[in-house]
Amino acid sequence: MDDARKAYGSMGKDIQDILIPAETLQKRIADLGRQISLDYLGLNPLVVGVLKGVLFFMADLLRNITIPMEMDFIAVSSYSAEARDQGYVRMVKDLETPIHGRHVLFLEDVIDTGLTLNYILQNLRARQPASLEVCVLFNKPEHRLINIPLKYKGFDLPDQFVVGYGLDYREKYRNLPFIGVLNAEVLKR
Ligand code: IMP
Ligand code: MG
Repeated sequence: MDDARKAYGSMGKDIQDILIPAETLQKRIADLGRQISLDYLGLNPLVVGVLKGVLFFMADLLRNITIPMEMDFIAVSSYSAEARDQGYVRMVKDLETPIHGRHVLFLEDVIDTGLTLNYILQNLRARQPASLEVCVLFNKPEHRLINIPLKYKGFDLPDQFVVGYGLDYREKYRNLPFIGVLNAEVLKR
């Protein structure tokens, strides 16, 4: 086993493959931060993240943003998959900042069908921000049901369940610094 997995003991053993190593993630996130700093110069953007998956990405991205900015969070509950498919998402924590007239940059860890993100964006758009753009770290294009323009994108991922860097399986594995594929037996446990 490689050192990256070994350092994480039993969690490392559950990982079959590292799809994106930590260094590759950090390099790409630095690029995104540089681009965002150029694009939003003088605009004092409000960067909004959806808890909890975005935590690691947001912390690393914001350290690479070199202009003044503010941040805020929302949280949504995942009812059932069926409810989500009908477009129901419950906002369990709303923004603390009024966004009318603000330049809002919305951060998401992963976009798959796009249903969750679509719901949130509609909700935010109704508050009339000056602009509303999306920055997603991982894009899974294969299951997309709703077309959402992604101004900034970290990586395209294949249609495969992955964990690490904020992404969980039953709330575990978020703290791995890389993106990995779980052993099939873990998913059966
Ligand atoms: P969707 O775009 O509405 O289908 O939902 C995306 C949500 O599904 C994300 O916020 C994640 O919580 C979850 N998700 C999608 N793909 C993965 C994955 O590979 N690993 C862990 N969570 C995932
Ligand atoms: Mg999420």
